Formats: sequence, structure tokens, C-alpha cells
Amino acid sequence: MMKNKTTETIKILGINGSQRENGSSYQLLKAAFNGVKEENKIIETELLQLANFEIKPCLACYSGVQKVKYYGCAKKPHKCIIKNDDFENIFQQMVKADGIIVCVPLYTPIPSKFIALIERLMMIVYSSSEVDKSFVWPLSGKPLSIIGTSFDNSTNWVLKPLRKYAWLLRFYQPRINNKVFSVDAKGGVKNPKNLEQAKKLGSLVAKTLVKRKERNNKNK
Ligand SMILES: Cc1cc2nc3c(=O)[nH]c(=O)nc-3n(C[C@H](O)[C@H](O)[C@H](O)COP(=O)(O)O)c2cc1C
Repeated sequence: MMKNKTTETIKILGINGSQRENGSSYQLLKAAFNGVKEENKIIETELLQLANFEIKPCLACYSGVQKVKYYGCAKKPHKCIIKNDDFENIFQQMVKADGIIVCVPLYTPIPSKFIALIERLMMIVYSSSEVDKSFVWPLSGKPLSIIGTSFDNSTNWVLKPLRKYAWLLRFYQPRINNKVFSVDAKGGVKNPKNLEQAKKLGSLVAKTLVKRKERNNKNK
């Protein structure tokens, strides 16, 4: 009973960074969601496939705040000036989720659409915080875990930079034995171990969120 009450509003968003819908990244995210559900059936999951969305690159638009260093989103209301694509929609879905799991394939090194998402998130958080001391970043502290996948190479070229950007974007990256847990799903779903690891990652994100919720409920 208590468990249901604790988790009724928890939602995890999965983001598939591949240009191929329903491929390995999709299956690894589904495995992660199985781990979530095994941990707690009440947690909601939603999967967003970037292949279905358009994300244009950052325009490096001039803001009038300080030429070159800060761009348009540095100014209130800290919105990206590009309106004719899906960035804002995806950003708001990230804001609404309690936790996020991304799966990104090795595209020597990272799919350009995923990079465009990072560019635009980074510029909002970086330039807005520099220019506006009252700026509140809505993704701060949100748990985010990463799965990298590939045909046969190590996905360190995906995981290393993405872990760094997750940190710069102020996400909390769930840990095991005090070490950030991400999955190098080299070889994709051909290797059943990768599906197991993805499941373990899903379960870790779920556990992190349930613990958080219980702590928040106690402090109410
Ligand atoms: C542009 C591009 C570059 C790639 N480079 C590599 C690579 O260097 N090493 C590798 O093992 N796989 C590479 N791959 C293969 C993908 O990482 C692999 O097929 C992955 O499973 C794709 O994920 P998906 O099934 O979700 O689309 C590349 C794929 C693309 C499209």
C-alpha cells in the first residue's frame, strides 16, 4: 500500500538517440524499462525516439548581452530563439520526467541530433546562469543514466563525453559503490549481457527515484 502511494507520480523518460527507430537502442531502453517495472510496477515509463523529431543545431545567435560569449537564451525568459522545431517540446518532456534514461549509439562518435540537443541545453544553462543570478535550471539534480551501444566497438567515445555533459547539465548520475553506473552495450542486443546490464541500470534509476520520493514524503 505504502509502496503505491510513494510511487504513484514517478515518471521515467527514455530517450532513444538513434536515427533508427526500434533498433538496438530502442530494445536496450525497453530492457531498462523492464528493470524499472521489476523494481516497481507503479512507475510510469515513456519512450521518445529522436528519429521522429527535428532538432536544429544551436545558431549561436547574438544576444546583445556580450557578443560571442553569451547568446540569445542568456536573456530572460531564457528560451531558445529557434521555434520551428521540436527542441522546446523535448526539453519540457525532460523537465516533467522525474528521471531520464538515454541510449545513444556510437556514430563516430555521437549522433548529430543528440549533439544538437546537448548544444542547446548547454547554452541555456551556461549563459543564463552567467548572466542572470536568479536563473533556476529545471533539470538540476534530476537523475539521468546513460547506455551507449554500437555494432562492435567500445562505446567509451559515447559514454565519456555524455557523462561529462550530464554533469555540466547538472543531472545527478545514479551510482553503484559510489561510481557512476552507465552501460557500454558494445555489440548491441546480439550480446544478451547488454540487455541484462540495461535492465540493471533501469532498476537503479527506479530505486534512486523511489528513495527520493520516500525521503521527500518524510520531510513533508
Ligand atoms: C554514422 C554511423 C557511424 C557508426 N560508427 C560505428 C563505429 O565506429 N563502431 C561501431 O561499432 N558501430 C558504429 N556504427 C553502428 C551503430 O553504432 C550500431 O549499429 C548501433 O547498434 C545502432 O543503434 P540502433 O540500432 O539503435 O540504430 C555506426 C553507425 C552509424 C550510422
